[in-house]
Amino acid sequence: MSKPLIVANWKMNGSLEGLKDFFEKLDLCEYAEAVVLPPAVYIRDCISAIGNRAIAVGIQNIWTEDAGAFTGEISASMLKALNIQYVIIGHSERRQYMYENDKQVNDKIHLALKAELIPIICIGETLKERENGQTDLVLKEQLNSAFENINLDNQKNIIVAYEPVWAIGTGLTAEKNKILDAHSLIKETLETIYNFNIPILYGGSVNADNAASLINIENVDGFLVGGASLKSESFCQIVKNITKNFERS
Ligand code: PGA
Repeated sequence: MSKPLIVANWKMNGSLEGLKDFFEKLDLCEYAEAVVLPPAVYIRDCISAIGNRAIAVGIQNIWTEDAGAFTGEISASMLKALNIQYVIIGHSERRQYMYENDKQVNDKIHLALKAELIPIICIGETLKERENGQTDLVLKEQLNSAFENINLDNQKNIIVAYEPVWAIGTGLTAEKNKILDAHSLIKETLETIYNFNIPILYGGSVNADNAASLINIENVDGFLVGGASLKSESFCQIVKNITKNFERS
């Protein structure tokens, strides 16, 4: 990936007013790819507010089937029809609050790829797992089950996000050596399955102050940003700060 990818995950936040304000103030630069993931109900407004600005739109979740009696759910193919490009799969909040499991994560990846959406697959350890020395095991297990029977011969657009659960929304960014270790492990694990480079984002309390130094960690190809992506000013500042520092061949 030649440019860093910065993904704004708004979660269940924002309003129609706020959305207009966000895009009016949006001032990105060409040295990064930016993506915004609004709540599903704002997708259309988001697309029209973006106009021809260089920012892609994604969704925070899809369901494990393409159509049918699944009240309240949205499928990958419905989103593709709206020109949505990205989808988060397996965010730890969904694993924690909606009891999403590894099998569902794997099913969703299959459907996202079939609909030619770019999946951003989230993995990460809890604090307890880290304290018990299980981080590597957890990451490998999550990766192996997420990528089970995923054939990427025809669709190479896929992204992994390493998000230590204890760093999300807490202000506790993981130390650089922990991020380095996790990203190296993810890269090595994926390299044993696929013969091309899969970008790896870091997520967990990324902000305008720490982004510039985090982007220089080896194999950090961008960020998944929650809280600091809600205001245009701080999101744009992250993009600007990292593009000054991004060095990749
Ligand atoms: P945060 O969220 O930046 O608020 O920690 C990141 C995420 O959940 O993707």
